[in-house]
Amino acid sequence: MPWFPRLAKANAEFVTAPSRQLALAPDALPDAYAGGLPLAGLTAWQTVVDTAGVGQRDRALIHAAAGGVGHLAVQVAKARGAHLIGTARAEQHDFLRELGIDEQIGYETEAFEEAVSDVDAVIDLVGTEDYGMRSLQVLREGGVLVEVPSGVDESVLAAAEERPSGRPPSWSSPITWASSTSRLSPRRGASGSWSTRPSRWGGRFEAHEYLQSGKAHGKVVLTT
Ligand SMILES: NC(=O)c1ccc[n+]([C@@H]2O[C@H](COP(=O)([O-])OP(=O)(O)OC[C@H]3O[C@@H](n4cnc5c(N)ncnc54)[C@H](OP(=O)(O)O)[C@@H]3O)[C@@H](O)[C@H]2O)c1
Repeated sequence: MPWFPRLAKANAEFVTAPSRQLALAPDALPDAYAGGLPLAGLTAWQTVVDTAGVGQRDRALIHAAAGGVGHLAVQVAKARGAHLIGTARAEQHDFLRELGIDEQIGYETEAFEEAVSDVDAVIDLVGTEDYGMRSLQVLREGGVLVEVPSGVDESVLAAAEERPSGRPPSWSSPITWASSTSRLSPRRGASGSWSTRPSRWGGRFEAHEYLQSGKAHGKVVLTT
């Protein structure tokens, strides 16, 4: 993540980093795991805590809950005492249950707007116009929709502004701070593997193949 949003040279053995982008790794995490956390972890923190302000007993809906950012957003929101609903493929539901999600919606077979209503916050990691518009329907009055993929669709913005007690839209800049990193500490899944996975693959090829297989949860970390 150093120099974000510039390319970080993730396959290099050595990189430089500005001191403001360094943070202490949490005691509970080995360095390789901590090294995989910042980009996705801080995105999760920024959306759940800083932007949506999800807290105790809030009802939050997370789209793409089993993805790289989503599975961390689930853990952050759960640790803050929220009631969590996530959209994910049915094959991911056991994994999400291990992370403590309360309700799951299989996006391939169920329309989430028919299964859920009156939520305080939607964290949308899919980010299409369709998902944005449908997500507005499930928000309670005054609820917050956070669109993560860059660029919010104009029609979603217009519809959000027309909502009763709608707040004006706001944009968050890309993550530039490191201080929150030391507050992140993801837990183990019941399978015994960490959701952020270190690897000692000699070849980077296998690592990229594993990523492309779609079976990876969280980050794949190359170690020397
Ligand atoms: N990773 C980062 O560090 C990072 C940082 C900043 C911003 N972002 C942005 O955040 C977004 C998500 O990134 P990511 O890294 O979490 O992606 P990812 O690990 O590739 O996960 C994408 C997830 O999307 C889910 N998905 C696909 N279609 C869906 C649908 N129709 N409904 C619900 N879920 C659906 C898939 O879920 P299933 O497995 O359940 O099919 C998959 O788990 C992207 O726009 C990315 O640019 C990522």
